[in-house]
This record gives sequence, structure tokens and C-alpha cells, in this order.
Amino acid sequence: MERETRLVQAGRAPEGHEGAVSPPVYRASTILYPTMAAYEKRSERVYTSYGYGIHGTPTTMALAEALAELSGGARTLLLSSGLSAVTQALTAFLRKNDHLLIADTVYGPTRVFCTEVLRRYGVEVTFYDPLVGADIAGLMRPSTRVVYLESPGSQTFEVQDVPTIAAIARARGALVFLDNTWATPLHFRPFEHGVDVEIQALTKFVAGHSDLLLGAVTTRTEELYRVARDGASTFGDCPAPDLCYEALRGLRTLAVRLPHHEASALRIAEWLARRPEVARVLHPALPEDPGHAIWKRDFRGASSLFGVLLRTKSERAVAGMIDGLHLFKIGASFGGFESLVVPVRPVRTARPWQEPGFLLRLHVGLEAVEDLIADLDAGLSRLGTVLTQEREAAR
Ligand SMILES: Cc1ncc(COP(=O)(O)O)c(C=O)c1O
Repeated sequence: MERETRLVQAGRAPEGHEGAVSPPVYRASTILYPTMAAYEKRSERVYTSYGYGIHGTPTTMALAEALAELSGGARTLLLSSGLSAVTQALTAFLRKNDHLLIADTVYGPTRVFCTEVLRRYGVEVTFYDPLVGADIAGLMRPSTRVVYLESPGSQTFEVQDVPTIAAIARARGALVFLDNTWATPLHFRPFEHGVDVEIQALTKFVAGHSDLLLGAVTTRTEELYRVARDGASTFGDCPAPDLCYEALRGLRTLAVRLPHHEASALRIAEWLARRPEVARVLHPALPEDPGHAIWKRDFRGASSLFGVLLRTKSERAVAGMIDGLHLFKIGASFGGFESLVVPVRPVRTARPWQEPGFLLRLHVGLEAVEDLIADLDAGLSRLGTVLTQEREAAR
């Protein structure tokens, strides 16, 4: 089946729900058992059925099944946010004295969790240059338990050579984690590239409407799922079935929304790349992008999110530009129907960010692309006006 068809079919069983097209919202904390004997055997069904609300309900399972199928993994575990998916996955697999190799360009709070929490509990954390490729071999230690990738990297969009890094990591006995939120499994199939554990913030493209938080951990095998599941239920994290219902609804239209985001984002990226105010557009689908060759080899498409490096460093001029935008709203996140813009100040240690200029991150929503370009065009004019004022004042 093609991916679009899978998105429509997966996780559905109308015959089990009075013919309803979508599985209804099952809300439950307590699950009742018919007998004492059945209750006392509840641990036998812990991975396959419903024992207590924390392990999910049929609504949760419908979303989990659909996501596992879409990613091509064995099972999916759902968590209360994308960040929780990151932290629970890492916590479930890492122990004191284990070594974690993690890309320098991961999502900021992922980085903070590693430096502030994992290190406190005795995990050794090394950030690596996302362009490391085969040189990851030189960073591996006998104690390296997890190699954690995010590609393209948060904020600066470096594309990693996932198959090369994954092959080396796995040959040395480490597990390979990937935050696949940017691409979604529609555009990057993690398990075909050597990944063991895929993490997604469903908050973004799957939910698609900027109105909920949810995370997913999808594993290559059932055994890995059980480790992740046991870890998360020990901490007591679980998502509300109502939100799983909303996310499943979003998932059904992902294959329609994502190409629209992609096409509009690419047009805007190309338009920005031609502007004199712009030093560089950080978007792997542009042929001049340093990550383009690997992106083209490994990905089936691009996303809505990319960076724009302005030539100026003037905070006043940039504020003049983005404060006055009508369609691009200032706000974190991406994947929703509305366009967003944020200033970005990358935090890096393995490969410090040194490119001059001011970095913005755009998420291109579902508005007409002509309107979005007009909004940015007016913004760049405002930027130019402030820069002229500043030059005149300096004379
Ligand atoms: C790449 C990436 N991973 C994980 C997350 C965390 O997702 P959430 O906002 O659902 O906690 C984000 C949020 O921006 C993200 O950009």
C-alpha cells in the first residue's frame, strides 16, 4: 500500500466501534476485571491489552498502531509531549556510566535535558558535530550506549548522514535514536536507514493545528518497545485519549497538508535566497544548500521549516521587520496551518555557530504563498528603512 492509503487505513476497525469511521474516545483510568483470577494475571496482558488507564485505551492504541505502521516500526509508545518522548526514550535506555553521543544541533530542551539531568545521574554526554559522518567512529567508546540524531538539525538545518552514522553505531553495539519531527515518516523512513528508536513531536505536523502537545517513540523491535514502555510507565507519563483522538484526526490528512507546506516553503525559500538582504537560506531542498546531496539521497520530501540568515545584525531592524508581519506570527513550534517566525540564537559546543548576521526561522503554513511573500516583502522593506535610519544616524 502507498503511504497515503496507509494513512487512511491504519489504526481503524469500524466493526469494533458500531461502524463509526474513527475509533471513539475511550476515557478510562480503572479497567474492570471479571474475576479475582483475571485481575491477578493482569501483568500478563500489560503489553498487549488494557490493564489500567496509564497503559492506554483503544483510542490510544489506534493512534499508536497507525504511527507504527506509517514509520515501518514494530510498536509505538505515546507520551504527553514531544519533549517527553525525547526524555523518556533516553531515560529508559541509559544507565549510570553509559556514554551518549548526541548531535550538537538537537532541539534546545533535548540538549538541556542531557546536560542538566542525564549528566547529574552519571551518564556521560558528548555533543558531536552534525557533519561528522563516518568520523563518528572516532568518538565511539566501549560504553557508548546511544547515538542520538536529529536531521536536519534544529535551528540550523544541517543534514546528517544517518545511514553511515547508524551503521557504525550499530556495529559497535550502540542504539541509534532519531528525532524525526521535521520530516515525519512520510519524508524520512527511519528504519530503512538503520534507526532503532524514532522520536516524533506529534504536536507539530501530525496534530497540525497548534492546539495540542503529544509525543511518540516508535521502535524497530518489540523488545525495544517493551524497554521504552516500562520506562515511561514507571515515570507515570501517558497522554489523554482525547488528544490521541485529535492527533489521529490530524494524521489522516498529513499526506495532503505536508506537500502543501513543502511546496510553499520551497517557493518562499527560493524567493528569499534571491533577496539582497539575505546572506543565506538554510533549507536542504535548495540545490546550493550544503546538505542537499544527502537530503536528496535519503529523504522523500522537505518540510515547512527553514532558516533565513539576514545580512544585518541590527536587532532593531529585525524587530522592525518581524513585529510588523501580518501573516507570519511570532511564536515557537511548527507544523500548524498558520505561518510562524522566530529569531534564533543557536547554542552549539562541538561546532560553534559563527556565521555573521541575524538568523530567523520560518514555518510556512497553508496560506496562499503570494500573500506570504507579500508579507515578507513588506517586512524586508521595513528592515531596509530601519537600516537606512541607522546609517544616517551614525554619520
Ligand atoms: C525537533 C523537535 N523535537 C521535539 C520537540 C518537542 O515537542 P513538544 O513541543 O511537543 O514538547 C520539538 C518542539 O519544538 C522539536 O522542534
